[in-house]
Amino acid sequence: MVRVAVFISGGGSNMVSLLEDMAREGHAGTPCVVLANSADAGGLARAEERGVPTVVVDHRPFKGDRAAFEAAINAALEPFAPDMICLAGFMRVLTEGFMEQWAGKMLNIHPSLLPKYKGLHTHARALEAGDAVHGCTVHEVTAALDDGPILGQAQVPVLADDTPETLAARVLEQEHRLYPAVLRRFVAGDRSPLILQS
Ligand code: GRF
Repeated sequence: MVRVAVFISGGGSNMVSLLEDMAREGHAGTPCVVLANSADAGGLARAEERGVPTVVVDHRPFKGDRAAFEAAINAALEPFAPDMICLAGFMRVLTEGFMEQWAGKMLNIHPSLLPKYKGLHTHARALEAGDAVHGCTVHEVTAALDDGPILGQAQVPVLADDTPETLAARVLEQEHRLYPAVLRRFVAGDRSPLILQS
């Protein structure tokens, strides 16, 4: 089985979707640890409820020293021996060194149809642009922010009365479909892009 570490910063709704799918038949991945950069992350309890070990590496003591923070992450991960990492609502920027260490073995989900809207506030930006279609992307993590080979995308329509909140909620529903579907294929060695229609 491929041992999967999931990194979160908050509620971890994507993490829950990944854990629940890995608990179903025929999945070649198994969750070995859920790591959060804050003890306040609501997803920690949700992981523990599902019997998955958790670990907290608080980023604040490492203020500004990203390499030291990442060394602490690697030390915390070691006992769980992960083969790969899924970033799931993880809000810390990682250094090139960490990306290189995990090259080809680290995924992220981003709430836009990359390459559009890298970075933050993706839903507001899609609304401001008047886009008719929006969505989410799962990609391999590389040194450039929100870049890297695209492994899957899910599209949603933008409705006339959408706000960033209503659009985000519609996208999040698709994230919960897309990320598990992509991870299931990825751990089975299939990196062909998956396009989901909502
Ligand atoms: C989601 O919008 C996701 O796209 C982004 O972080 C947000 C929260 O995700 N990566 P989660 O509910 O913590 O999984």
